[in-house]
Amino acid sequence: MRIHDRLDALEKLRDESQQGGGSTRIQAQHDKGKLTARERLDVLLDPDSFVELDRFVTHRSTDFGLDQQKILGDGVVTGYGTIDGRLVYVFAQDFTVFGGSLAEAHAEKICKIMDLAMRNGAPIIGLNDSGGARIQEGVVSLGGYADIFLRNTKASGVVPQISAILGPCAGGAVYSPAITDFVCMVRGISYMFVTGPNVVKTVTHEDVTTEELGGADVHASRSGVAHFAHDSEIECLAGIRKLVSFIPSNNLDGAPVRQSDDPVDRRDEDLLTIVPDNPNKPYDMLDIIGRVVDDGEILQVHEDYAPNLLVGFARLGGHSVGLVANQPAVLAGVLDIAASLKGARFIRFCDAFNIPLVTFEDVPGFLPGVEQEHGGIIKHGAKLLYAYCEATVPKMTVITRKAYGGAYDVMNSKHVGGDFNLAWPTAEIAVMGPKGAVEILFRREIAASDDPEAKLAELEEDYREKFAHPYHAAARGYLDDVIDPRETRPRLISALDTLLTKRDKMPAKKHGCIPL
Ligand code: HXC
Repeated sequence: MRIHDRLDALEKLRDESQQGGGSTRIQAQHDKGKLTARERLDVLLDPDSFVELDRFVTHRSTDFGLDQQKILGDGVVTGYGTIDGRLVYVFAQDFTVFGGSLAEAHAEKICKIMDLAMRNGAPIIGLNDSGGARIQEGVVSLGGYADIFLRNTKASGVVPQISAILGPCAGGAVYSPAITDFVCMVRGISYMFVTGPNVVKTVTHEDVTTEELGGADVHASRSGVAHFAHDSEIECLAGIRKLVSFIPSNNLDGAPVRQSDDPVDRRDEDLLTIVPDNPNKPYDMLDIIGRVVDDGEILQVHEDYAPNLLVGFARLGGHSVGLVANQPAVLAGVLDIAASLKGARFIRFCDAFNIPLVTFEDVPGFLPGVEQEHGGIIKHGAKLLYAYCEATVPKMTVITRKAYGGAYDVMNSKHVGGDFNLAWPTAEIAVMGPKGAVEILFRREIAASDDPEAKLAELEEDYREKFAHPYHAAARGYLDDVIDPRETRPRLISALDTLLTKRDKMPAKKHGCIPL
């Protein structure tokens, strides 16, 4: 055969591989309001950057008539490309081929991509849209999943792993995304559950829809399984591009530096008026953070889950930072089980990937209550504490108002390794709030008083004046400085500059035993 004939044959095969499960199934995918695997990759990656690998791979099964149905690529499109010019490895399951179901060859393709990403130090992005284990291939499909789980675990903390759920993801299939660092879902088209509504109905007699059981909103707000919930696939894929812009390619790299026109010495007058004079009044911590970080740009992670704690990415002087902040606008910014889990997970990601942490603190303590105690606030709160303690990245804190009790220690105090701890003059650092404190210390005096309420108020005011300020902590060096709120941005950027060369290590060990 002449070379031109061979080239024609190659072109035909390439065309065939582009067709996936064929035009009818592609139309069915579009009719569901979903993009195909290849269309998704086009949106995710820089134009013309995608290089496909393993397009000629097919399964090797013969059971259930599979020998008559070999489709090039075996239901998953894999390869590499770039996001903002940076290398990423990708796989996109093709629902038009055997419902995107995963079996031996399909799994081998994903594993190859994961191995390459690990070897070459680049993020792995998986676009999931699959009916789960390919039923016809039996245990071989299950083995394929486990091969992926093992790689997910080995890659954890080495290269960032991001999962988009863009269709069904059920049964054990959920555990690969669950091990990855970020899970993104799309309202109306994605769902994740271990057992679907029918099984739930049979076992527990509960009636629940797919969306109610495992849709984007439920996982982004209640279970915390998803970090991002989007309204469309396009928005979801754009969100992944943005996320990637904040994080390094691997654990030996730093995040890309993106200079902005926002002056590093910018002072912000509004920072004087955001914290209300009345310490019991809420305010939105985002109003503060937005005035401190570069261009006011914040990418919140887990935005709808445990909103009493904010976590997310921003930049200071061009450098990516991980934000952890109490949110006084929700439950007074109290720490509860969900907030502890949210914070701990985010801190550990930032620490694994060399992203400095900035904590904004206004916390009245841990949430009291039987539900919290019986739910294990002790062990879950310990996770947050543990995560802060073990993090060796640069760690900075700004206390804007309350820092009470154990929560003072936990929220990146000097004692747990804070490198640069600042407070505003409005900070109140104490074992507990004034009311609780005087009720304990002066119970008898208050009871004996003619006007207990007035007495309480007087003692509270006394206490506030004596203890509810930052200067006792500053006198001990627990704070590096008490600053004018307007200086927050320049002071943080200056501190971060000094910390970029920070060297710190935990003692050598196989791994710690975080209280899971
Ligand atoms: C083989 C599958 C498949 C599967 C779907 N298909 N799931 N083929 N193995 N697991 C095929 C269908 O036969 C169909 O082929 C095509 O994909 C599209 O499926 P439809 O049912 O027409 O699509 P839709 O109505 O959108 O329903 C999607 C679905 C449903 C909800 C995912 O297909 C479904 O319930 N599938 C089975 C899900 C499941 O039970 N999987 C095993 C879970 S256990 P044609 O040729 O008609 O286009 C599991 C364990 C993992 O995954 C363990 C890991 C440790």
